[in-house]
Amino acid sequence: MRYVVLSTILVCAFCVAGVKSQPAAVDDTLPSNYVPSGKVMFKQYCATCHGSEAKGNGPLASLLKVPPPDLTKLAQRHAGKFPYDYVSTVLQFGPGPSAHGSSDMPTWGPIFGYFDKQNQKAVQQRIKNLCDYLASLQEP
Ligand code: HEC
Repeated sequence: MRYVVLSTILVCAFCVAGVKSQPAAVDDTLPSNYVPSGKVMFKQYCATCHGSEAKGNGPLASLLKVPPPDLTKLAQRHAGKFPYDYVSTVLQFGPGPSAHGSSDMPTWGPIFGYFDKQNQKAVQQRIKNLCDYLASLQEP
């Protein structure tokens, strides 16, 4: 009987964790298999600069040397196809030393990989979720 009670408590703990899956600030208490939806991650990590609609007009945008690009036009700027490879490279390694000097865009690889260097699968899945979400925002 005691086991039943115990496992019920455990299961409930998981339920609660599942329900409030709003990401907290990046910290290493997050479970290594924590993979929020692209939308949630975008709000959490990207909207301050790129804007909640990804149009490049987030509250921080005016403070940056290089304005954050409109991410709904990525496909348009890449011959009509959403550039998955390019975006996942940017997310892992940053936009790189761009032609116009150093970049204001943080490198996200360490952040997405931060809580679990071991769990590459989860890292890749987070990046994929973000890419899928951005792909869904593309303007024709
Ligand atoms: C601190 C502000 C800031 C945050 C936060 C930020 N970005 Fe950026 N991002 C920029 C800036 C500025 C550039 C342009 C950099 C350059 O050209 O050197 C950029 C460039 C990009 C590019 C390349 C766009 C292009 O047209 O080549 C992508 C893709 C991108 N960001 C996606 C994201 C995603 C996804 C997130 C969230 C995980 C994010 N950014 C968070 C500021 C930010």
